[in-house]
Amino acid sequence: MASAALLARAVTVRDARPADLGRIGEIWNPEILRTDTTTDTEPRDAAALAAWLGRHGAAWPVVVAVADDEVLAFGALSPYRPTPAFARTAEDSVYVARDRRGEGLGRRVLDELLRRAAAAGHHSVLARVTAPNTASLRLHARAGFRTVGVERETAFKLGRWLDVVVLQRVLAGR
Ligand SMILES: CC(C)(COP(=O)(O)OP(=O)(O)OC[C@H]1O[C@@H](n2cnc3c(N)ncnc32)[C@H](O)[C@@H]1OP(=O)(O)O)[C@@H](O)C(=O)NCCC(=O)NCCS
Repeated sequence: MASAALLARAVTVRDARPADLGRIGEIWNPEILRTDTTTDTEPRDAAALAAWLGRHGAAWPVVVAVADDEVLAFGALSPYRPTPAFARTAEDSVYVARDRRGEGLGRRVLDELLRRAAAAGHHSVLARVTAPNTASLRLHARAGFRTVGVERETAFKLGRWLDVVVLQRVLAGR
């Protein structure tokens, strides 16, 4: 496995492009179909992925972590709620290819999303993480998120009820 220092040099985090969507689907859809790391249950085909990317403008970026022209991870900011009062409150999502987890890629993507969120004028970023997802809870805690609530058994997936932990990072100076 590459050392963190080597990886940090080799990986670029940039805006996602339509040509990245096939690889994003390869990373995302197995999580949707077979795991409780996301409460989504419907895999996204090419049309759904294109529509999803199209909804994400500058204030709501989709970014990819790339090494040697291969997309290894992606992340996105989405509106936390659809109403105007929440217009400067974002929800993040981060997904790393299964065989590249634990190398710091999730943190790279999340740090870029936080940087973009501040630049876009968002006031805070939230994450809604299923309680068994220790990797995501750790990722967000290490990036300065604090748990602000736990929804008890609000999601039912793969035959069981899941608690959803809500974490928030308020961005400095806004
Ligand atoms: C959650 C996820 C994005 C983390 O990405 P990653 O690249 O593996 O994480 P990183 O290597 O950047 O590690 C970030 C922190 O989490 C910790 N971590 C990573 N995997 C972990 C695991 N399986 N268990 C506990 N901690 C873990 C790391 O040790 C690190 O903490 P540290 O700084 O204290 O060492 C990745 O596991 C993933 O894609 N999971 C499936 C999709 C998902 O759960 N997305 C989030 C939905 S809310």
